[in-house]
Amino acid sequence: MSQAKLQAPRGTQDVLPEQATARAGLEATARSILEGAGYARIETPTFEATELFSRGVGASTDIVQKEMYTFTDAGGRSLTLRPEGTAPVCRAYAEHGMHKLPQPVKLWYLSSFFRYERAQAGRFRQFWQVGAEAIGSDDPAVDAESIVLLHTILEELGVQGLQLRIGSLGGAAARTAYRERLQAHLRTHEGQLSPEVAARIDLNPLRAFDSDDAGTQSVMVGAPRLLDELAPQDAEHFAQVRALLDAADVAHVVDPTLVRGLDYYTRTLFEFTSDALGAQSAVAGGGRYDGLVEQLGGPATPGMGWAAGVERTLLAATPRPEPGPVVDLFVAFEGSAWLEVAFTLVNHARRAGKHAQMELAGRSLKGQLKQADRVGARFVAVLREDHSVLRDRESGDETPVRGDADAIVAAVQRGMSQGAL
Ligand code: HAM
Repeated sequence: MSQAKLQAPRGTQDVLPEQATARAGLEATARSILEGAGYARIETPTFEATELFSRGVGASTDIVQKEMYTFTDAGGRSLTLRPEGTAPVCRAYAEHGMHKLPQPVKLWYLSSFFRYERAQAGRFRQFWQVGAEAIGSDDPAVDAESIVLLHTILEELGVQGLQLRIGSLGGAAARTAYRERLQAHLRTHEGQLSPEVAARIDLNPLRAFDSDDAGTQSVMVGAPRLLDELAPQDAEHFAQVRALLDAADVAHVVDPTLVRGLDYYTRTLFEFTSDALGAQSAVAGGGRYDGLVEQLGGPATPGMGWAAGVERTLLAATPRPEPGPVVDLFVAFEGSAWLEVAFTLVNHARRAGKHAQMELAGRSLKGQLKQADRVGARFVAVLREDHSVLRDRESGDETPVRGDADAIVAAVQRGMSQGAL
């Protein structure tokens, strides 16, 4: 009986070999720019205690309320596949006593994350992010440097139609006072709000700025703006971040309505969008989270960071022609008596640093030569009873190779080095 063909779960996708080169390019670009600026790679576990995200990301957020892959393990613990990377990195910072290192501690990651979201173009249930966190300094230069590095990475990858929106949420006290004023405004106009926004006035009033409901939007036009109410030191911090972005020629638009789906942000907040993407136009986002480490049980520590979606970045980037892999030698052979010589030859060539492949699928000699063409091998060694040869596919020259296995290996190596390999 034939079995039903299985598919990858909805919202997930395979990264196929043809996409691997572009991903490797993204990783190399991020690594070189971030490590050049003093960031070191960190990887945290794929799953964490559920409490890390309910405490860190915020119990009222969509992520925690609706989108987490949470399960109980055989030991009865509640665990969650990480929906984001900032809370885990801050957990690791506190757990490993990184506050004792010179500050700020700069960490970057490239990992996969999990959110039960409505799957659509550019939005997945398992997706990848490259992220960077600078923990331990509240200097506005940290904010600006972090944003400029992200901008450099996105530009270098050729992300089209980039726009940077930036805002500030101020400190915790200003935010609490503002929240109350905003709640009062929303309550006054409760009848015009979408039911979803109205239901969350107490829990998460800021999200009303993000609503695509027309009634809610008209209420928000007249809503008080946090940016107008920043405490002097927060306004000064924001002005300095902007001045440093200007000094680095990074164009940005101040957006007083910018909100993000995570509760840990304080002060600076930003998002990069690309007009090469559809509805899911956010390529990257981030901000400052000065209370997060403490909220997770560590010492009071400021922090700043961002994450860029790998799939979205690649979708928005200009594809670059990538050179295919180089194959120096393909070993073809006729008759099983030659298998061992072919195997030895390929291993020798690899040990000598050459990229070598051999026949592995029992093709006819003709089929093997076609395969050597397909992989673009520079040399083909043809091993057979009457006359074994080494063919230079570039010049068309053929050199006979004779003798026992060792002699053949030596002759092929000599022939390849004479052919400038
Ligand atoms: P986020 O805005 O939730 O921030 O995600 C950052 C980026 O990840 C988004 O701009 C988007 O490109 C990508 N992304 C998010 N969800 C999906 C999805 N379902 N499918 C595909 N791509 C997605 C954070 O995660 C914060 N941890 C960023 C941060 C770091 N803030 C401070 N430090």
